[in-house]
This record gives sequence, C-alpha cells and structure tokens, in this order.
Amino acid sequence: MKPLSKIQKIILRWYSTEARSLPWRKTRNPYRILVSEVMLQQTQVHRVLQKYPKFIKRFPSFGSLARARTSSVIRAWRGMGYNNRAVRLQRLAKEIANKHQGKLPRTIPQLESLPGIGPYTARAVSCFAFGQCVPVVDTNVHRVLHRIFPKETRDEEIWNVAERALPVRNAYSWNQALMELGATVCVARNPCCEKCPVKRTCPSAFTKKIARRHNGVREPGRNGVPNRIFRGRIVETLRDSHQSVKASLLGRRLMPGFREKDRPWLIQLLKGLERDGLVRIHNHRKETEVSLAQ
Ligand code: ADE
Repeated sequence: MKPLSKIQKIILRWYSTEARSLPWRKTRNPYRILVSEVMLQQTQVHRVLQKYPKFIKRFPSFGSLARARTSSVIRAWRGMGYNNRAVRLQRLAKEIANKHQGKLPRTIPQLESLPGIGPYTARAVSCFAFGQCVPVVDTNVHRVLHRIFPKETRDEEIWNVAERALPVRNAYSWNQALMELGATVCVARNPCCEKCPVKRTCPSAFTKKIARRHNGVREPGRNGVPNRIFRGRIVETLRDSHQSVKASLLGRRLMPGFREKDRPWLIQLLKGLERDGLVRIHNHRKETEVSLAQ
C-alpha cells in the first residue's frame, strides 16, 4: 500500500483530467450549491443536469424560492422524483429568507440546525460553497473509502477515516474527486477497476467480492408496485390538473383495476402526502378531493 500522500496525489491528478464538467462545479454560490446537493441526493446526475439550470433560472435565490407558490415549486420539480424535497427546500428557503437575511450561515452547527439540512448537506455546503476543509461523505464516497481503506473503515467511524484521508490544501477537489471516482469508476456493482487510478494500490481492486447484491428488503406497496411510485404518480397527476381531483378518479388513474377495497390504502397514501406538505385533501359533497398544496 502506498503512503496516503501518494494516493492523494494520484487521485487528485486523475480528477484534474477526468472530472466531468458539471454546472455546480462552476459556482461557489451557496444557494446554487445547496439546490444541487438536494437534487443529487436522490436523483441521477443526467436527470439533474436537465432540470437544475431551469430550476435555478426560475428560482435564482432563497428569496425567490421562499416567495413562490408551493404548487409552482412542486411543478418545477417535475421529473426529479421524491417530491418531498421540493417542499422541504422551500421551507428551508423561507427560514433563510425570514431569519437569516437571505444568506446561508457558514458554520456546520448553524447549518445543521436548519430544517432539512443534515450532516452530509451541511458539510457539502461548507466545503463546496465556503471552501472549508471538511470531509464530505455520501454513499459513493463511503464505498470508495471502504474499498481503498478496508481495515480503517472496519475499525473506525467513516467520518473519522474521511477526515484523516483529507488533504488539507485540496479539500474541495479531493471531495469532488472521491465522488467522481465513486460515480464513474468505483461503482457499486461491477466497478471498472481497469480504469481506476489507484488500481495498483487498492486492496479491493479486481476482487470478485466487490459485486454487491440488493439486500432484498421489500418496500411497502400494492400489486408489486412500491408506494413510492404511486406517490410520484399522484403528484404527477395533480401537477397536470389545475383543479382538485376526486379520490376515486385518482385511484383509477393510478391503477387500472382500482376498486372500493383499495380506497383505504389510497387515503393513507394521500394523508402521507398531505403530512409532507405536497397535497391538500378536502371533502366535497361526501367525496374526498385532492389538489396540489397551494
Ligand atoms: N453528488 C452529490 N454531490 C455531487 C457533486 N458535487 N458532484 C457530483 N455528484 C454529486
């Protein structure tokens, strides 16, 4: 195993030639970085690339996002999936606009105290927007570190391993480089070790055990389709409709064979969406009706 400084140098050099050109790597604007991080948490890069520039153009600052109608934010989120994020991002924007003069605070404890910002996002913003020397560990980075430093990651908390691996003068590029390696080469299943800059020193290189299977935990759902997909379809249907929609009609749109017995399941899904601030449920002439949150 090569010394850490050598591994850092190899990975940083690889990143300087192989990094994809991504819009959030060309800005240090805290709002833009934050939006990209929220989008990238659960949506693939190619999809975010299609949506991100339009979203930023439509809502260029915390203030503009805070002032917008929630329904228009949910509509602008179209195609990204996990729509809760749109509502949470707007709540955060309102907090920043109302209590922080429209500016993100700079320290990690202050960032983590904001609604919807967890340890990962706080550190991503701290490093990518404010240039702080902090580790940023998402699932890709976790996997890369685990493969290069299997012993350390077995014995220690991942954030500590990441902290020690961090080159003091190049934290930004290092964190981006590990993300890039995890996203393009050191992928979860069938990694391309042949293309890896540290293949000569990585203890996991070319080992078969690297391929990981899905853990087989079944998501709750109906007729073999996860509820997550139905939630997305409900929001999609409401985005297209500028009026409220009857629950029974919604049911038939979601599922071709929708019956009365499926109604309690549908109402549970709708209540969940209402709790998350995505939809509004109201009763009209004994019928349950739903619309996008206003
Ligand atoms: N995923 C999360 N943050 C990212 C970033 N800054 N670049 C590429 N992928 C990411």
